[in-house]
Amino acid sequence: MEKPLQLASLLLLLLLLCYCGTARRGAPAFAPVTLASEDAVQGQAVFDTFCHKCHPGGEAGLGPAINNKPLPGFMIKFQVRNGVGVMPAFKEAVISEEELHDMVAYLKTLRKAKEAETP
Ligand code: HEC
Repeated sequence: MEKPLQLASLLLLLLLLCYCGTARRGAPAFAPVTLASEDAVQGQAVFDTFCHKCHPGGEAGLGPAINNKPLPGFMIKFQVRNGVGVMPAFKEAVISEEELHDMVAYLKTLRKAKEAETP
């Protein structure tokens, strides 16, 4: 239990660093999901492969909507690695750390788009 938590905080730190580096200011708020970074573009492919069927486009489907709540990156990662309820766990052999990181970047993009759409 301790190690995943340490890993999660490390990842969060990494994520924050990347986030600050790639934040785009002044982009129009109403833009339809513009993928602001290479990470997010990669992440979309990962998401479409593993998550889209239950969280279509981040909206609710078989699983709940995940584009409308401020889940921090490490929580999303924890959820993906461990699974909850009906949602299966995805281990590193299936989704690598890098892919998971990219997917979180993509999910944050979806969330921002959702926020822009519902002021
Ligand atoms: C087989 C369907 C299924 C797949 C595939 C799936 N999920 Fe889920 N997901 C669920 C369900 C069902 C829940 C609700 C679990 C619960 O609370 O019992 C959930 C919950 C979540 C939550 C927590 C939402 C909340 O309200 O707290 C996140 C984040 C999440 N999923 C992300 C993902 C990501 C990222 C992927 C792709 C790697 C993924 N899911 C793949 C079904 C799925």
